[in-house]
Amino acid sequence: MKTTHKHYICNAAKMAAVADRSVSLVVTSPPYPMIEMWDEIFSRQDAKIEKALKKSEGLLAFELMHQVLDRVWKEVFRVLSPGGFACINIGDATRTLGDNFALYPNHARILNAAQALGFTALPCILWRKQTNAPNKFMGSGMLPAGAYVTLEHEYILILRKGGKREFTSPAAKENRRQSALFWEERNQWFSDIWIDLKGTRQAMGKQKNRTRSGAFPFELAYRLINMYSVKQDLVLDPFLGTGTTILAAMAAGRNCAGYEIDPTLLENFYDKCNNSLDQFSSVIQQRIDLHNEFVQGRLDAGKPIKYENTHYGFPVITNQEKEIVFSIPVSVEQQNDESMVVNYALPSKETSNVFAAATKTATVAGTSGVTSRMDGLLFPDFDKKR
Ligand SMILES: C[S@@+](CC[C@H](N)C(=O)[O-])C[C@H]1O[C@@H](n2cnc3c(N)ncnc32)[C@H](O)[C@@H]1O
Repeated sequence: MKTTHKHYICNAAKMAAVADRSVSLVVTSPPYPMIEMWDEIFSRQDAKIEKALKKSEGLLAFELMHQVLDRVWKEVFRVLSPGGFACINIGDATRTLGDNFALYPNHARILNAAQALGFTALPCILWRKQTNAPNKFMGSGMLPAGAYVTLEHEYILILRKGGKREFTSPAAKENRRQSALFWEERNQWFSDIWIDLKGTRQAMGKQKNRTRSGAFPFELAYRLINMYSVKQDLVLDPFLGTGTTILAAMAAGRNCAGYEIDPTLLENFYDKCNNSLDQFSSVIQQRIDLHNEFVQGRLDAGKPIKYENTHYGFPVITNQEKEIVFSIPVSVEQQNDESMVVNYALPSKETSNVFAAATKTATVAGTSGVTSRMDGLLFPDFDKKR
């Protein structure tokens, strides 16, 4: 199997390289309106924004910033195929302009715009991002009634273009079964509050245009890609930033395209992808390890497991997990400045047997005390210097 990954340095308001109805999933996080670090990037796209901010016209600036994003949501609607999803990570903003402290509800404004474009809004995910900063409480301290609640969550909005996606041909159905999630992953990932994902390191090198990247964690993109697409689908991120969505798509065996307006963020991106190959394998290995731990815990608790995965031999809870198979990225080839191809291998029979043997030994010996580690996966920091 091969996948292709392209990144374009230009404004996503016009994604000329992406055909109508060619994308199965959009995973993205735009610059957040009314969060100061994004003022400049918005003002460069509409000079009226800077003026509104200078005059402390918060609601006008908020609306104009969203009009910049609206152009991209319109393009997202155009390129999505029927039944395709858009998962948008966005946080609301609080800000004082003049003497006025106020909430700017970004998630609500984007939902309204998306519905006006024709998207169906589906139940969304609250991503709980706790902060322990000592100055996190704002307002009048212990004295009623002038303190403000601290925002410690962001949203992942889930939108769909049209009705349910159809998988009609035998090959499409088989690919869907091979792309399935584990039962215990489904239970955790499809819950409406994610409490186990930490924010990611966002510090940037001195040569960059900003001090923080605004990157979301690898696992956020990786989960959403596994939840809402199948292998070899095309995933798009119109606000690509440091390229997290492309890395997650590579690890998950999906094709990906991304747009980014800031040319400094994706310098040496091929090296970053190429250096991440071992980490992609460890992401997959961890999913399998966690599954085996989960299975052992259930067996030890005397709960029988009915089915066996045909590729790895380990037990699975449902019939739908029998054909899950992970495609492991083994090499990345650079085609040109904006395009890469990833080659994949299936796990060798030997590796599969090791997984199966480990699970069976534990079952026979009745090892106890193994609990399922459902407190989130420990994904690598792809930006860490090696
Ligand atoms: C919140 S960051 C995305 C971070 C990304 N998810 C990551 O993990 O690195 C938003 C990105 O959108 C880019 N951006 C802003 N306006 C844009 C536009 N009109 N077209 C393309 N990119 C844009 C910004 O430069 C910024 O890097």
